Formats: sequence, C-alpha cells, structure tokens
Amino acid sequence: MSRVDRFWENAAQSPLQIVKMPLFAEHGVRVYFKRDDLLHPFVSGNKWRKLKYNLLEAERSGFTRLLTFGGAYSNHIAAVAAAGQATGFKTTGIIRGEELTEVSNKTLQYASQCGMKLQFVTREAYRDKIALAADFGTDCYVIPEGGSNALAVKGVQEVMGELQSQLNASFDYLCTAFGTGGTASGLISAPADTKVLVFPALNIQKAEVLQHIETFVELQGKKIEVLIDYHFGGYGKETEELTRFIADFEQQTLIPLEQVYTGKMMYGLVDLIRKGYFRRGEVIVVLHTGGLQGKRK
Ligand SMILES: Cc1ncc(COP(=O)(O)O)c(C=O)c1O
Repeated sequence: MSRVDRFWENAAQSPLQIVKMPLFAEHGVRVYFKRDDLLHPFVSGNKWRKLKYNLLEAERSGFTRLLTFGGAYSNHIAAVAAAGQATGFKTTGIIRGEELTEVSNKTLQYASQCGMKLQFVTREAYRDKIALAADFGTDCYVIPEGGSNALAVKGVQEVMGELQSQLNASFDYLCTAFGTGGTASGLISAPADTKVLVFPALNIQKAEVLQHIETFVELQGKKIEVLIDYHFGGYGKETEELTRFIADFEQQTLIPLEQVYTGKMMYGLVDLIRKGYFRRGEVIVVLHTGGLQGKRK
C-alpha cells in the first residue's frame, strides 16, 4: 500500500452527530452534523475529501512535488502542506500578497514548518495562475486554488455513502459553505429528493455560484438553493454579531466553528429555521467542512 493510500485509509469515517438546540425543537426540525472537521487537525473537512484523489493521481503519475495557490489564511494551503509532508510529497504554495512572509501568520508559519516552499506574489500576478504554474512548477502536480477540480468532487461524493450508512434514512436538506464550489458540486450527488443548501462565504450572486458548480457537475433535475445573504460583508469579513453567534453556538453544542465559512453557514441555517423556512419533521444534515486551523481565538 502506498503512503497516500495509507494516509487516507487510516482514518475512520467521520461521525454523524445530532445537534440539539431549543430552537430546533421549537420548529420541529432534526439537525445532524457530519463532523468532517474531526478527520485530521490540518487536512480537515472538505480538504480531506478534496485532496484524496488528487494525491493518489499525483503519486500514480510519478510526481514528487505538489504546487498550489492560496491567500494568506488559506485552509487549503495548510492542508496541502500537511498532506504533502505526511505522504512524502514536496510542496510549493504560491501565496497572494508580496508583502507577506513565512512568519506573517499561523497558517503560513505552519505551512512553512511542514516544508512547503512559499512563493509570495503580487495580487496582479496571482490572477494569472497558468503563468505562475509555468514559472514555478513545470514538473509539479498542480492543484487549483481551494483544491476544487473533478478529482476533488469525486472525493466529496464519498460523503454520501457514509451518510447513507450512518443515517439509514432519507434527509431533506444537506448544507455546505461555498468558496470555490468543489464541495457543493460533490454534494449535488445527494439523493434526488434531498435539497442542497449552499451558503457562500463571499459576496457573490446566485447565478455566479451556480455557474461555478456547473463547471463541475450537471445541475439539471437537482434540487439546490443558494443563500446569498450570509456573507457578512464579504470573504474573510466578520461582525460582532457573527462572533457572538459562534461563541453562543459553541457553548450550546460544543461544536467548534470558524468565522470564514462554517460560522456564516450556521448563522444562515439558524436564521432560516427561525424564519420558518423548514417544515416540522424535516431532517437537515450539515457538512462541517473544518477549517479550524484558521480559527481566530
Ligand atoms: C472550512 C471551509 N469550508 C468551506 C470551504 C468552501 O469549499 P469550496 O471551495 O469547495 O466551495 C472552504 C474552502 O475551500 C473551507 O476552507
């Protein structure tokens, strides 16, 4: 068995946990959390799912170095650095922002400690990823920003088999945060009567979100809803209300959330429940996509 196989084989499937809050009981909905955040401290959540088949492919094709892209606080950069180190790949991370260094924050420090070679580029240069990949990594296996590609979608789809065996019943909704669309695209393989609820962490129009998803999967005949009102001012933005919500939620449920993705999604879901979006008796599954390495304490 290869090192990549071993790394992914070693983890048990992530737990499915029912979450109890007075509001859920009041509205008669059952909410489950698929705790992918528990899969690994750094290759966590959707990163675990999205990297699996990419690293297997990189290994099969004989690559020894992975190259990828990310912003200063990218969970994806931390995950590629950790997965590369654990499975024997060298790694390069192209980071947006020429003013940054290896010690600018915890994420970059961690990636660097895992042995990732960090290349800091201007925001302008960062836009042309094809040119950057040609400059820095002709012999690298290139993973796109956020890790979203067809192999990532295949990895995310594995959530469905686990849910079927863990829940052993149909569920009405499956919720995810959205950044680049790979995760939502994988979840679209949910049973036809399950509606996928997508919560963008950035200020983006619904049509654009659907376009992103459609670059990976066919949406015809699928039930999907994009909730664009829970971005809190845009990517990486946070308000006191969101901070307070996360602290309250964590205290009540003991499930940690972070401020960039899962906190916003959960705020949105709770708001929808409060507004009566769901019918009594409906079952909602929330995918915890991890990202806790980037959590601001
Ligand atoms: C914690 C977390 N949740 C959700 C997402 C969004 O996933 P995607 O980029 O596949 O839409 C990301 C970013 O990739 C993330 O780091």
